[in-house]
Amino acid sequence: MPLALNGPSELLFYVNGRKVREKNADPETMLLSYLRKKLRLTGTKYGCGGGGCGACTVMISRYDPGTKKIRHYSANACLLSICSLYGTAVTTVEGIGNTKTRIHPVQERIAKCHGTQCGFCSPGMVMSLYSLLRNIPKPSMDQLMEALGGNLCRCTGYRPIVDACKTFCKTTDCCQGKENGICCFDQEENELLDSEQENMTCEKLFQEEEFLPLDPTQEFIFPPELMLMAEKQTKTTRVFYGERITWISPVTLRDLLEVKAKYPDAPIVMGNTTVGPDMKFKGIFHSVIISPDGIAELNAVNYKDNGLTIGAGCSLAQLKDILTDMILELPVEKTQTYRALLKHLRTLAGSQIRNVASLGGNIISRHSTSDLNPLLAVGNCTLNLASKDGKRQIPLNDQFLMRARSADLKPEEILVSVNIPYSRKWEFVSAFRQAPRQQNALAIVNSGMRVLFEEDTNIIRDICIFYGGIGTTTVCAKKICQKLIGRAWNEEMLGEACKLVLAEVLLPGSAPGGMVEYKRSLIVSFLFKFYIEVLQNLKMMNPSLCPSLPDGYGSVLEDFHSKHYETVLRYQKVDTKQFLQDPVGRPIMHLSGINHATGEAIYCDDIPAHDQELFLAFVTSSRAHAKIVSIDTSEALKLPGVIDVLTGKDLQDVNSFKSFLENEKILATDEVLGVGQIVGAVIADSDIKAKQAAHLVKIEYSDLKPVILTIEEAIQHKSFYEPERKIEYGDVDEAFKAVDQILEGEIHIGGQEHFYMETQSMLVVPYGEDKEMDIYVSTQFPRLAQDIVASILKVPSNKIMCHVKRVGGAFGGKASKTGFLAAITAFAANKTGCPVRCILERGEDILITGGRHPYLGKYKVGFMNDGRIIALDVVHYANSGFTLDLSLFVIEMGLLKLDNAYKIPNLRCRALACKTNLPSNTAFRGFGYPQVGLIMESCIMKVAAQSGLPPEKVRMINMYKEMDETHYKQEINAKNLIKCWNECMEISSYYARKAMIEDFNKKNYWKKKGIALIPMKFPIGLGSLAAGQAAALVHVYLDGSVLVTHCGIEMGQGVHTKMIQVVSRELGMPMDNIHLRGTSTETVPNANASGGSVVADLNGMALQDACQILRKRLEPIISKNPHGTWKEWAQEAFNQSISLSATGYFRGYESDMDWEKGEGHPFTYFVYGTACSEVEVDCLTGDHKNIRTDIVMDVGHSINPALDIGQVEGAFIQGVGLYTLEELKYSPEGILYTRGPEQYKIPSFCDVPNEFNVYFLPPSEVAQTLYSSKGLGESALFLGSSVFFALHDAIRAARQERGFSGVFTLNSPLTPEKIRMACEDKFTKMIPKDEPGSYVPWDICI
Ligand SMILES: Cc1cc2nc3c(=O)[nH]c(=O)nc-3n(C[C@H](O)[C@H](O)[C@H](O)COP(=O)(O)OP(=O)(O)OC[C@H]3O[C@@H](n4cnc5c(N)ncnc54)[C@H](O)[C@@H]3O)c2cc1C
Ligand code: FES
Ligand code: FES
Repeated sequence: MPLALNGPSELLFYVNGRKVREKNADPETMLLSYLRKKLRLTGTKYGCGGGGCGACTVMISRYDPGTKKIRHYSANACLLSICSLYGTAVTTVEGIGNTKTRIHPVQERIAKCHGTQCGFCSPGMVMSLYSLLRNIPKPSMDQLMEALGGNLCRCTGYRPIVDACKTFCKTTDCCQGKENGICCFDQEENELLDSEQENMTCEKLFQEEEFLPLDPTQEFIFPPELMLMAEKQTKTTRVFYGERITWISPVTLRDLLEVKAKYPDAPIVMGNTTVGPDMKFKGIFHSVIISPDGIAELNAVNYKDNGLTIGAGCSLAQLKDILTDMILELPVEKTQTYRALLKHLRTLAGSQIRNVASLGGNIISRHSTSDLNPLLAVGNCTLNLASKDGKRQIPLNDQFLMRARSADLKPEEILVSVNIPYSRKWEFVSAFRQAPRQQNALAIVNSGMRVLFEEDTNIIRDICIFYGGIGTTTVCAKKICQKLIGRAWNEEMLGEACKLVLAEVLLPGSAPGGMVEYKRSLIVSFLFKFYIEVLQNLKMMNPSLCPSLPDGYGSVLEDFHSKHYETVLRYQKVDTKQFLQDPVGRPIMHLSGINHATGEAIYCDDIPAHDQELFLAFVTSSRAHAKIVSIDTSEALKLPGVIDVLTGKDLQDVNSFKSFLENEKILATDEVLGVGQIVGAVIADSDIKAKQAAHLVKIEYSDLKPVILTIEEAIQHKSFYEPERKIEYGDVDEAFKAVDQILEGEIHIGGQEHFYMETQSMLVVPYGEDKEMDIYVSTQFPRLAQDIVASILKVPSNKIMCHVKRVGGAFGGKASKTGFLAAITAFAANKTGCPVRCILERGEDILITGGRHPYLGKYKVGFMNDGRIIALDVVHYANSGFTLDLSLFVIEMGLLKLDNAYKIPNLRCRALACKTNLPSNTAFRGFGYPQVGLIMESCIMKVAAQSGLPPEKVRMINMYKEMDETHYKQEINAKNLIKCWNECMEISSYYARKAMIEDFNKKNYWKKKGIALIPMKFPIGLGSLAAGQAAALVHVYLDGSVLVTHCGIEMGQGVHTKMIQVVSRELGMPMDNIHLRGTSTETVPNANASGGSVVADLNGMALQDACQILRKRLEPIISKNPHGTWKEWAQEAFNQSISLSATGYFRGYESDMDWEKGEGHPFTYFVYGTACSEVEVDCLTGDHKNIRTDIVMDVGHSINPALDIGQVEGAFIQGVGLYTLEELKYSPEGILYTRGPEQYKIPSFCDVPNEFNVYFLPPSEVAQTLYSSKGLGESALFLGSSVFFALHDAIRAARQERGFSGVFTLNSPLTPEKIRMACEDKFTKMIPKDEPGSYVPWDICI
């Protein structure tokens, strides 16, 4: 009977135990926006919209009437259409606990273990952990890491989150083997460790005993109604009609086939992890979507004589579980393919994706980077297809993967199940993949390889090799496989196979994705690994079949999967004489910690909609340098719901603003200077409409020359901003004449995207009356937003109130840029008279807002044979992009900080900000220091290599001595620099480990370890007195409670928590009596930007001042009634007409810098530190593991050690990202490719060193600063370079062994690609190299 579609169906599901019915469910509504906008459950966050960050994690529960089991799993709400939720129960962060009733142990522990900073990622983290615990109440570390792999955090550095999670883990009898190879059962070795650690005082940052126990009986039960519904489900197809899309959910195979026959072009949506991102990011549209639900045949698992048949609808997580069980039950020889599949299923995407993505979806999508297809293809899998006309089988082979029509599904066919045969005796299957990051990253190249031998021989009977990541789909190395049949498995065969495979699997120089030579090298490296793996297996089966492995080859196959995380933290205890009530110096939890973890913390986009609210989306340039010929807004304006399109013409004479040194255009008018420059803005009645319309604005361009993108091009065209800065110290030219050796070199340091988890967000509410306007904005610099808005609206600043409750991460990226975005939004609000909201999508945010400046450092260094550097001549070039923004200050700071920890007696340095046609770069944590510090350290490495000295020796020789002066003639007492260095060296057992590493390297040819100890002197100061002024306001109410406000912005660093600690100490009242609501230009005017590590110091001083004023006023009252309460004192003050409100003020620290003379006193003090990192490198793939890091920091008297350790760890991991992972990729036309977490990899859980120890030096007095504390927001980022230099050390060892002993340069970031290509060997020699200029590369180095 032909299928008749009824409809519309009613959608029914549960959210947090509440029934939800939707009569008109729109398939385009994703669960994330439904939760946030319709149900007002704003705890679930938007971070990327594409399944890559985990901020939107929820738990889905489904009842299976067949098995009578409920499946609970985490999923990304941003990829789930609400129509796919029929009959499910959704649990969000609000559903598991809240501050009004009871918080959940997961929420409590993440907060109390200091696992939240800005808190934007926290609800997602909580839900991933919660979902795991619903299934496994006592998980292992492995299970924990797998469950959290899909969640990103940009603030914490993950260690405290791991600590919180570990409190739920089952304790094992054994530590599962530590990286140094010593098990806790190994008594002798442990004694050694114990004695080493004997004198260390280690303090906890939280009290585990306080934690609520996890009680599974307290969780929501699955709604019985849904169970009943599933049991009695009528087998009728459900249909949902949206505005543009019809969603059809057949529930029987017969109906599915009918529907597919009727709509052959409609996709079958299972997990929606391919179709969803394609529709969202690639603009692919489907008017009909078929989404099978609960069809038994698609989920069936059958164990047959020849192997496993598994339903195409099974999720990758279910596949993983099934294969895990089979491996336990079946003999090894039968499970070769299953084992190989499992290896990839552990690292494929994050758990949220694996839980929903289907096997069928992965196969049919035929992504080039599919991790499963190469293995399924070599495993001789077959696909069971069905259509209305019947069933058939096709092989999953190269023809199918190439989409050859004869080998593909017909449009009306669906994939029902997949046969995965058992492997046979004498057959071996291997899986290889290399990704930019070990977890949750698509492979750069992956491979499946299988070989079958003639029985009891090493003669190849059959061999099959597939590669992914090379072309547009998985490719087969067919010809070589045919040629290898009959060959013996030996070195000769390998050599020939490598040559043949490179000739067959071709990759042009301009191949999309770039990394061409690296990919070529992976093709042969994987083949080599396969050779070794098979050799080992053959040897086990019959030792006489092949020769033994050469010495040092044994570890080649060990992967870098981490099993344990350990940490030691040490910080100063408060003085025993300090009052118990005085919180200063104690590890107090971030005061919003619990709100972060329960999702109750409000961010800008969580503010409820205002009446008549409109939305704004930006129109941006698609050209790097072009004349705007015309802008046609007619199509956009025709779209229903679109109110207006703003262009430069609307702004007329208010279309520019001088925020720092030069006037910047707000909207481009005649000319665009970079891709991503804002040209216009669409205002519509919904965010979706505004975004759709923005794509309809047509801009006609006429390209202009030159297009300057790279630093080299800027140098060639002399395209620089004015002025150039320079400092000269000593007599450089004379010094060069006297040195033993001179070296010249250069190093390139790539830029960095801020990747704050909360994208740029603002809501502007105009009041009409007196032209007043409220601006709620996620910014570090409310005053600038206020100023630009006032200027664009031509109103005085006193009409514009800018409010910031909290910011979901900023790192410098929400200082200058946000003001311009807010100004356009305010213009729209003023023009329409309606509130306007603008929330950037992740891709737009990355494209528009710029990031850290890429740097090129060129240096000439003169040194003595004993390693003393006598003269240095260095030039810094910063790629600033198309506006100056803060670049001049960045290069100035770069010049002042370039010496890092070293006294260079003769130093000449120049810095130039390059004007290029790239998005304008801006402030970023460290403000130039991370780049210039790396240039200095790179120079040290070269000197060490050239003079044959160990790098640590060259560092020690050149380090500042106790009393000294810098190159800009500021005095410096470097005592604590040396203390940090010595202590770190001791704590890390540097020399002992260095010897162990040398030994390891001798024994391992393809794996190398490296270690590096990097010192740091980070100057703190803003360069001017005015930049350091701060103000605060303290009100005491008649009930004795206190309300505080100050200039600082809470962006995760915990400044509000520290400020309440300060007020608590100064007023002598408990912290819970003090409240801090947020920051506003209405309460404290003319505030400076929050940044530069000094926010707590400066605002704390202002608050101290306010409190002391109040205390002084109230002193007579308090001394008359010393045992009174604050309520009594406040009432008495009121009665005596004494003001209970005070403003406090801090002028800033004296500071000066004369750039003409190149000298001054720009800094208040220095933060010192040293980090020692150890890594292990896989020389064949460039993969690496961070084994251990020890950090020793001089932090003065920490106001809050928990927050300060959090800042150190978070900054360090961000530095690890900068130097080893994060790579912005631009096309030769200046278009940014890396616009989301899929392409741009920030550190994840897997990047945290397995042992991560942070020690604070015993405090020493720091004159002037608040309670002798030091600002720690930025400095430790540079210490991430210790990982860079440890990698350098490992690469050096590899190169030396292979006969490349000369000086070499490594650029940053040191990605797997760069590591592999630097570890030159016989395989890298083998690969074809393209002549530069003979092809257009896919990407360029800017
Ligand atoms: C953040 C992220 C990270 C990822 N990382 C990885 C990774 O590391 N490795 C990797 O291999 N993959 C990765 N992927 C890809 C992911 O594995 C695939 O998107 C997924 O397996 C597709 O399954 P799905 O059920 O979601 O497919 P859907 O999006 O629902 O469908 C995909 C396609 O398959 C077709 N289809 C689905 N089922 C059938 C069927 N039964 N019969 C006929 N056609 C069918 C649909 O018509 C559609 O064209 C990642 C994806 C994301 C979003
Ligand atoms: S917002 Fe859903 S994964 Fe990033
Ligand atoms: S706390 Fe994780 S992103 Fe800020």
